[in-house]
Amino acid sequence: MDVPNGSRLPPATLAARGMGARWWPIALSEQVSDQAPLGAFYEGEPIVLYRDGQGQVRALEDRCPHRRAPLSLGRVTPDGQLQCGYHGWTYDGVSGMCTAIPNLSKGERIPSHYMAQPYCVTERDGFVFVRRQGFGENEPHVAPSRVPHGGPRFRGCTTVATPYDEYLAALADGPHLLISLSGLHITNYVSADACEQDGQVGIEWGVVSVARRRNHRFVTDYPWTLRLSCEPNGALLSVELLTRDEQLALIAMVAVSPAARGTTAVNWRGTVLPAAAGLGPALLRARTRLGAAPFRMISNIDGHLLARLARLHSTSWMHPGPSGATQPEVPTEAASTPRQETIHGGSSV
Ligand code: FES
Repeated sequence: MDVPNGSRLPPATLAARGMGARWWPIALSEQVSDQAPLGAFYEGEPIVLYRDGQGQVRALEDRCPHRRAPLSLGRVTPDGQLQCGYHGWTYDGVSGMCTAIPNLSKGERIPSHYMAQPYCVTERDGFVFVRRQGFGENEPHVAPSRVPHGGPRFRGCTTVATPYDEYLAALADGPHLLISLSGLHITNYVSADACEQDGQVGIEWGVVSVARRRNHRFVTDYPWTLRLSCEPNGALLSVELLTRDEQLALIAMVAVSPAARGTTAVNWRGTVLPAAAGLGPALLRARTRLGAAPFRMISNIDGHLLARLARLHSTSWMHPGPSGATQPEVPTEAASTPRQETIHGGSSV
């Protein structure tokens, strides 16, 4: 039996380090099944997710207390427990207690400290939220989902080689580096600065067709708007594509959470709305008609462009002022009337 690992620090110690108390959306609901466990991360610590016999998602540290084999390489038993693939120790998903050890001698009992650390789990709007135990009974605070039912849907997940805070800041300062919209180019023109409304902080960016971007050095007209919004320092972002007359053409919810070794897990789901069919660019329409996702979060971020990204909007986006007024770090590009924009070298979409 191995000694307890670092993930078993008491809640007070974790809280003093600013860890453990936060609910993070770390997976899509459909990724978690009762057929095979799924490896994920909570604040950099490996955890394993699976569904028990009642369909409830369970989360344990992804480390067998016996010889540290990843439990995510094991299997879900018919009675909804998790069995290590190495020597077959079995764990209850609620308590984390070891419930069975093969070849246990007759009369031998399983010590109560043979357990895998359990985590709190809940599902909201198709995302699996996880938090450490010992931080009370609170539920994750999630704004009501704006993703409507029906219509073509898409979803995806990736891990990017950028720390969580930097990823969130890059979304606010240069979403063109991180978000891909078929046939569209997200420009560096900010049509609405970061501002807080109903607890959500949003920024709006001008969007043009890829063809327009290629054919014109300067763009003065932005037929679409990309609106990013989330709670300050939120892990669940809303990404909306609006037409010129403010119709919602596409909406995606993007879950961002810290993974291991300075990487960030990104999971998203969303839908295309009828406004995209009549008014959107041809490539977006075609992909939607073929059932292909017109939206994705970019996995391979261009580090050269990321390093050159000015920190213009992220401060006010991630840390709005106490009264709700934003406090830009430096003057931003926002203007009340459209202006000319020099096309920059963002990633192609
Ligand atoms: S490592 Fe031996 S049962 Fe898991």
